[in-house]
Amino acid sequence: MMQTKNIRIAAADLLGWYSDFGVDEALDADPIDRIALAKLKAQTGSAPKPAPVVQEQTAPVARTPAPSRPNVNIQASGEAAIATAREAAKAANNLEELHEALATFEGCGLRRTAKNLCFSAGNPDGRLMLVGEAPGRDEDIQGIPFVGRAGQLLDKMIGAIGMDRESVYIANSVYWRPPGNRTPTPAEAAVCRPFIERQIELANPEILMLLGGAAAKSLLDTTQGIMRLRGRWTIFTAGGKEFRTFPTLHPAYLLRQPGQKRLAWRDLLAVKTALTEKTD
Ligand code: URA
Repeated sequence: MMQTKNIRIAAADLLGWYSDFGVDEALDADPIDRIALAKLKAQTGSAPKPAPVVQEQTAPVARTPAPSRPNVNIQASGEAAIATAREAAKAANNLEELHEALATFEGCGLRRTAKNLCFSAGNPDGRLMLVGEAPGRDEDIQGIPFVGRAGQLLDKMIGAIGMDRESVYIANSVYWRPPGNRTPTPAEAAVCRPFIERQIELANPEILMLLGGAAAKSLLDTTQGIMRLRGRWTIFTAGGKEFRTFPTLHPAYLLRQPGQKRLAWRDLLAVKTALTEKTD
């Protein structure tokens, strides 16, 4: 009796710990065919353990080699999805059409676990465009980028250089929330990339700021970390147009490492100076 109680307390503690770290979905990295598992359970009367057990029990006794994981097909379907994304993004003549194209785009697996598509926030005519990583929990619920804690800090950051959501345009390099707020995979980033490229091209900002390593790596197509990339001007090209681009630290990182705010402040001042110089 006492032991059961202790196990319950330990399980509740563990769940609490996961929840504190933002884990709110019970998902695995690899898909599990739960229909097959349920059928198997009905046949055998016991619940098999996920992946390995399915292979054990469904494979015939005299085995032909189990089909290797279909990497080639996954890759092919990934490439097909990227090709579809490119076509859909290119066909969009304005931001509304791009939003509609994304709303019907099935090529990104994240849309299956997300509640909402998060397309943009702020003013599409703003001189400054900010691109973050991916929606989090609050963004997923509201369908708007940067409305949670990181978004509140972002508002303060842009407020510090005299701007607000009326004067900046905000989007993410991935449009749906990754389960548990994990970093988007390279495949997820790649399939969203034609859309964010087109979004930047159509919004046509004077300056583009990339918030954090995931956005910077995906859009600048580099493996360099944000600490190397931040604080330097670079060029991002979309649809044949060149955009002055400045990578900086992500507000969520600054919430965890407030000591680094001085670097972000330096970056914001550089962007403010560039905007002011252009106006003068
Ligand atoms: N973090 C991001 O990168 N984007 C959001 O929209 C919210 C948090």
